[in-house]
Amino acid sequence: MQLKFPSHFLWGAAISSYQCEGENYNSDWCLWEKERALERAETACNHYHLFEEDFQLARRLNLNSLRISIEWARVCPQKSVISDEEITHYSAVVDTLCKFNLTPFITLHHFTNPIWFSARGGWASSENIDSFLNYLQKIVGALKDKVNYWLIFNEPLVYIYNSFICGIWPPGGRSLKTALRVFKNIIAAYITGYQEIKRIYKDSEVIPQISLAKNMRLFSPCPKYNLGLNNFSSFIRDKIFNYPVYDYLSKKKYLDYLAINYYCKEYVRFSLPLGEECNHSFHKEHRNYLGWYIYPYGFYEILKKLKKYSLPVIITENGTAETRDCFYQDYLVSHLKSLAQALEEGLDIKGYLWWSLLDNFEWDKGFGPRFGLIEVDYNTLRRKIKPFAYIYAKICKENRLY
Ligand code: BGC
Repeated sequence: MQLKFPSHFLWGAAISSYQCEGENYNSDWCLWEKERALERAETACNHYHLFEEDFQLARRLNLNSLRISIEWARVCPQKSVISDEEITHYSAVVDTLCKFNLTPFITLHHFTNPIWFSARGGWASSENIDSFLNYLQKIVGALKDKVNYWLIFNEPLVYIYNSFICGIWPPGGRSLKTALRVFKNIIAAYITGYQEIKRIYKDSEVIPQISLAKNMRLFSPCPKYNLGLNNFSSFIRDKIFNYPVYDYLSKKKYLDYLAINYYCKEYVRFSLPLGEECNHSFHKEHRNYLGWYIYPYGFYEILKKLKKYSLPVIITENGTAETRDCFYQDYLVSHLKSLAQALEEGLDIKGYLWWSLLDNFEWDKGFGPRFGLIEVDYNTLRRKIKPFAYIYAKICKENRLY
């Protein structure tokens, strides 16, 4: 069966600044790597200097859009310092995207903060929200003539969960109370940021499209031990993790589109209050390099539940880290089939961005997991298109799937 995608469909890929630019020494992640003796991002893919080459490769793969992020700590290395040089750099980056006909998606916060911001209490302090908004105003003001799609935050709940509940990301917090305060501050920053962007574009012919990227997971009760209790925890995780942020923001009309990041299924085991991830390997399911359960049908199940919002949807991340090319191929094609099924059932999906354009720095997991369409040799920094990326390139070019 041939599956045709809507005309003007956005085909692309996503990256984030800290994970591929390199030399982000003013970011709190950099300090964290040192303190915890983790693998260091250091030069990463040197994308900061090689962005033109990378965008050229994206174009060679027939992509027509690309999601990037701005490193706040570069633009504001100190509290009251705005670096004009970095603003000029990011303007050049966006000009280059436009030159290659790659529609830019710009993320303003992708997990990392300036060191000075964290030292002042970071997102746990409501007094710090204004610092983020100052940065937002500067960047949006500088890029507004070139950018339609904004993502103010990437996956705030993943950030809060890892940084303030599990303690595995900076600042290493383990307090539900602080996590709730951070949540409140991030949502407040998002809403004011949303209004601010609309204000900055007031006299422009373009209507900016603003969202936050939301990680969605298919939660499933772990079949081992007490299925009833596991079922309860899985239900709670789905209710808390997947929908409330979008429910709230869409009701208040602070969302112009849904930006969905989907990767996998998570088996859940009972524990209070939020349940916990269960990583048994007894299931006969494919698990990727990171042990994630790959479940393409879950993508469809998540997508069809988004109909209630009556908003356009853009998949801002979907991808996997594998050891064999055939697994990437299977992942790509099976997830696009799920997406096509959701389209056929009337969901207004406008685009699909693969995570990631390049192999890059996978946070606390270092450089081992390789999510890229393009392989990066971290010694020579040479790029090489992976075989499965040519399949993606064909789909992007023909706008259909066979
Ligand atoms: C994040 C990326 C990360 C990817 C794979 C997403 O949730 O936005 O930064 O690399 O997942 O783990």
